[in-house]
Amino acid sequence: MRDQVGRSVMDFAVDHGVNGIYSQCGGACICTMCHCFVDRYWFDQAGPVSLDEREMLEYIPTRQPTSRLACQVIVSRQLDGMKIYVEAESGITP
Ligand code: FES
Repeated sequence: MRDQVGRSVMDFAVDHGVNGIYSQCGGACICTMCHCFVDRYWFDQAGPVSLDEREMLEYIPTRQPTSRLACQVIVSRQLDGMKIYVEAESGITP
């Protein structure tokens, strides 16, 4: 993802057809279709959760403490190797 620095994780995922991360709002933080779980090790390094993002996460019944909206996580060199997970139809995919 090094060539993706400055773009969102959602943009990368959608461009590469990652199942489970979608976008209806184009990254405006209003659709929650890009919900993902950031690996605990990486969560604090993924940047702060804004008030808007926190409010939108409240609408996701399956949210976890490490939930993020992938459109709000910006790829940086410091996140090289970051692991994220997406929700499977029947639950959380570890
Ligand atoms: S793409 Fe819509 S909230 Fe992230």
